[in-house]
Amino acid sequence: MAHFNYIQLDKLGEGTYATVFRGRSRTTNEIVALKEIALDAEEGTPSTAIREISLMKELKHVNVVRLHDVIHTETKLILVFEYCEQDLKRYMDEHGGALDPPTVRSFMFQLLKGTNFCHENQILHRDLKPQNLLINRNGELKLGDFGLARAFGVPVNTFSNEVVTLWYRAPDVLLGSRTYSTSIDVWSCGCIFAEMISGVPLFRGKDNEDELLQIMRILGSPSDHLLAKMAKDSPEITLKPFPRCPKVDWAQVLPKASPAALDLLERLLKFDPAERISALDALSHPYFTEVTDAPYGMMAPPNFGYPSRHQQQYGVAPPMYATQPQNPYNVQYAQPQYGR
Ligand SMILES: Nc1ncnc2c1ncn2[C@@H]1O[C@H](COP(=O)(O)OP(=O)(O)O)[C@@H](O)[C@H]1O
Ligand SMILES: [Mg+2]
Repeated sequence: MAHFNYIQLDKLGEGTYATVFRGRSRTTNEIVALKEIALDAEEGTPSTAIREISLMKELKHVNVVRLHDVIHTETKLILVFEYCEQDLKRYMDEHGGALDPPTVRSFMFQLLKGTNFCHENQILHRDLKPQNLLINRNGELKLGDFGLARAFGVPVNTFSNEVVTLWYRAPDVLLGSRTYSTSIDVWSCGCIFAEMISGVPLFRGKDNEDELLQIMRILGSPSDHLLAKMAKDSPEITLKPFPRCPKVDWAQVLPKASPAALDLLERLLKFDPAERISALDALSHPYFTEVTDAPYGMMAPPNFGYPSRHQQQYGVAPPMYATQPQNPYNVQYAQPQYGR
């Protein structure tokens, strides 16, 4: 394509409705990600893509993958995104699953920042999962793949039920709720948090029913009172008899996690969406400021968006590090940024 400003390089990934390639701008040489969506001659541009475009164009935040350009040809639609080296799924796979505590804290903070930014802009992501979180060489984590996202203006109760990928899907949605709100993304953030700590997805249900069962086996079965309340909040919810499961202590599920981490997790993973913490409130949870003796992150290039121990003690950013921590991408570190 002569008019095409980007050279297509290697394939980066294949998702539900698109293929993603690495690309390079002919004019600036900048490396980008090209998300190609084949257009059906009959059906035209898929609504998922149109949704993604109109939402993403407005969303400008360091923790949301930036949409640079949109190219519409007869046969395909190409979304030109800022390039990120990896997604969180691959990142975890390459680091043997579990991430070290400073990395988990950095990624979790950025995940909540990006999520809160979407929510402030009346956008639900609806499909937060490790494959849809992108990580660049500076250790910046960005929300990607807004294919299922929706602005949550009125009316709120017409959303389709089939949204968030099963393993990260909130129990209220699994029960049939269609009146859900920002709380569904918060649930997914909680699942991702636990997965970064343990290296294994938290609730791996085979189907809708099984996913609910897996959740209840850890959170405990909701009381009849709670279920009745949820059904009142969301009339689409269908109540069936559930097996009686006792609550399991989070410390038993994640023995490696700090008490503050477990407290945050508990608040993110509330069965009742009305009780779930907001992304904004989660950002000021003590987990992000607790003093730890955890070693410097050995895996992620650190990107501290939260006050460091040094900063807490002395009120100023720490001096430059004498030795640079090991760098997984074999590239220069960006300076850690404080107080973002
Ligand atoms: N900006 C990007 N930079 C690098 N890789 C990307 C980028 N966007 C997507 N990818 C890779 O391509 C995969 C599929 O992209 P995604 O946007 O999630 O498409 P789908 O909607 O088809 O799931 C991602 O999981 C990721 O591995
Ligand atoms: Mg995806």
